[in-house]
Amino acid sequence: MPFILTIILANNLQIVVACGPFTIQDTIAFEPLNDLINYVKENKPHVLILTGPFYEKNNQAIHTGKLRQSFDSFFTELVDTIMTSLENVDVKVVIASSQREPHHYPVYPTPPYEIKGRYANLTFVPDPFLLDINGVVVGATTQDILFNMSTFEIHLDKTNSSADRMGRLASHLLEQQSFYPLDPPSKDVCIDMTLMEKFGVMGVKPHILILPSNLRYFVKEINECLVINPERLAKGYSGGTFARIEVSPGSTTTLCGRTACQIMRI
Ligand SMILES: *[C@@H]1O[C@H](CO)[C@@H](O)[C@H](O)[C@H]1NC(C)=O
Ligand SMILES: *[C@@H]1O[C@H](CO)[C@@H](O)[C@H](O)[C@H]1NC(C)=O
Ligand SMILES: *[C@@H]1O[C@H](CO)[C@@H](O)[C@H](O)[C@H]1NC(C)=O
Repeated sequence: MPFILTIILANNLQIVVACGPFTIQDTIAFEPLNDLINYVKENKPHVLILTGPFYEKNNQAIHTGKLRQSFDSFFTELVDTIMTSLENVDVKVVIASSQREPHHYPVYPTPPYEIKGRYANLTFVPDPFLLDINGVVVGATTQDILFNMSTFEIHLDKTNSSADRMGRLASHLLEQQSFYPLDPPSKDVCIDMTLMEKFGVMGVKPHILILPSNLRYFVKEINECLVINPERLAKGYSGGTFARIEVSPGSTTTLCGRTACQIMRI
């Protein structure tokens, strides 16, 4: 069942989605994340969705010993910093876990993160997740399923050489109602099949599907679902991209028809 978020809206629903890692490869200073927080303070979206991992296992700063505390306390401090800087901003923050997060469980589907404190405007969700925001269902997984499927998919259509490969890959998720329709999975994805049956399926079809990938960003309408790959907020040694989504009210057109999405560079 989707997590429910109710927002009192005067006008369009605005959502910002950014996918980790949130710091560049050789620091733990999180400059791209700070820039995003400033963007959120200025533009005041209703919802900010952040998907892990916050930093990569192979982060150079960590390997050279710049982290002087446990992974757990570092992560708690990171979340504290985000929530403190957004204290006076009317934004609901949703943080999705990733099995690639150094301090977290390396299993997929991945349980939500946990921290010591509690924030009224912060929700931790598992990976994958479905989120119902005033009736708009957003689904996402932090796994790079597009990239993983692209290595294995074989497709030939002699009648159409310009076929839309990304669209076809993403359509497998919607058709099979699964957030990870690849079996056997990629070697670095530890799937728990029992959890997968319960938490890896799409109980309802999302209106918006977020699939962060190392492949190039895109926004596409597939089977009446808006599929978005916002790429990552930090890419190697430089800042990356995030997505800004705006849903206008109304019931006459389809949800895709009244949704606008922009990929922004940080
Ligand atoms: C939480 O959000 C509400 C409105 O949704 C806002 O009034 C309040 O200041 C926020 N609280 C904190 C601690 O950020
Ligand atoms: C699956 O995706 C992950 C993350 O991008 C990548 O590290 C891994 O090599 C991929 N596996 C395959 C078989 O493509
Ligand atoms: C070829 O594929 C593209 C992308 O999916 C589509 O827009 C186009 O209509 C297709 N052309 C034919 C002749 O089927």
